Amino acid sequence: MQPTDFVQGLLKYIQNSPTPFHAVKNSEEILSLNGFQRLDETASWQGLQPGAYYVTRNRSSLIAFNLTHSPHPNQTLRMAGAHTDSPCLKVKPQPLISSQSCIQIGVEVYGGALLNPWFDRDLSLAGRLTWKPQLGPMQSGLIDFKRPVALIPSLAIHLDREANNKRSINKQNDIIPLALLAHNDIKPDFHALLKEQLDIECPANQATSILDFDLFFYDAQPPAQVGFNKEFLTGARFDNLLSCYALIEAATRPAALQDFMIVLNDNEETGSVSTTGAQGSFLQSVLERIYPDPSYRSRVTSRSLFISVDNAHAVHPNFPTQHEGNHLPKLNRGPILKKNANQRYASNSVTSGLFKLICDKAEVPVQEFVMRNDMACGSTIGPLTAAAIGVPTVDIGVPSLAMHSIRETVGNLDGWYLFEALSCFFQEELEQLRCQDI
Ligand code: CO
Repeated sequence: MQPTDFVQGLLKYIQNSPTPFHAVKNSEEILSLNGFQRLDETASWQGLQPGAYYVTRNRSSLIAFNLTHSPHPNQTLRMAGAHTDSPCLKVKPQPLISSQSCIQIGVEVYGGALLNPWFDRDLSLAGRLTWKPQLGPMQSGLIDFKRPVALIPSLAIHLDREANNKRSINKQNDIIPLALLAHNDIKPDFHALLKEQLDIECPANQATSILDFDLFFYDAQPPAQVGFNKEFLTGARFDNLLSCYALIEAATRPAALQDFMIVLNDNEETGSVSTTGAQGSFLQSVLERIYPDPSYRSRVTSRSLFISVDNAHAVHPNFPTQHEGNHLPKLNRGPILKKNANQRYASNSVTSGLFKLICDKAEVPVQEFVMRNDMACGSTIGPLTAAAIGVPTVDIGVPSLAMHSIRETVGNLDGWYLFEALSCFFQEELEQLRCQDI
């Protein structure tokens, strides 16, 4: 695979993954095509043989692993993780609002979305539905309208002369997507609109009624390569589907000779407290089933390394003073090692040293980041995973601009660099993955 192939695959994956459900579905497809077998959390895993497997939870989080041989002394597991969710607008349970002969769809803000860029975009809608079929148990399935179905028009500058200086956004009133023009102010049946789409995407559904939904608006404009030399990739959800894609591609690179695991959590953007989040039990439960003996399991995790992969902030050429003066990561200069004295990132000198050695072996450049002391630092699944299972952890990620915007920007080489570093981590003999204390 060449860097350009990676970019094409990444853009396709992002476009086809408007929600965590779709990201997991597309990841499952790539894993299955490459020989990973599906496991079911509700089934017994007794007698799990060496091989490549994956398991999903809530259809929005996924753990995949490769076991090369039965448990043995000095067993290690090369672990890496990212998150499937991105900040966006989520449809409220009773969403339809009638105002001035317009029908709008009420939304909640999911995660720390940068809201300004949501105005004047062509929005589509995707997510999961549950329904009652004529016979048998409740069912769930995914829909994706793919075409623009709504928009949030800006208020014209003539009606708000201070817009360029002072406009602020009220999350309850100002960002309600406009979806239809009303006839006689009669609200349409929202469930019927969803059922119509379900019939197109899943003709065999036999739904008698839609019971509930998890639906998210997203930018209908596909991701793109931008710049005179196409150095920039723009699109939604690079945070953190770029990392998910790099992990899946690295995990499915042929000749997996090592034991490794990838963890794709949902709900990172809302604090990770859920069945699918990094503060939930998913990873712990999978590890318990692979290594049932608690003392053996502790020995494996304490010998292992977890690479927490999540995008980082490249220095913005218009706002360079927002960065710490000695730590100015740039686009297309490789993954960034993230550090924070207050443990908002889990990296320490041992795990960072190991990651630098991996990048060195993979011939990938590496950069370093700390937040300015006078600004609050973000966090990732890294510290949560490290705390939960005791695995030495390093926080890294590709440089990006406009994080949490509806359209983010990354460099066209950084995903490839990340993929190369992760492939090296999963595939190579790395004697130096241990640190000897002198
Ligand atoms: Co993120």
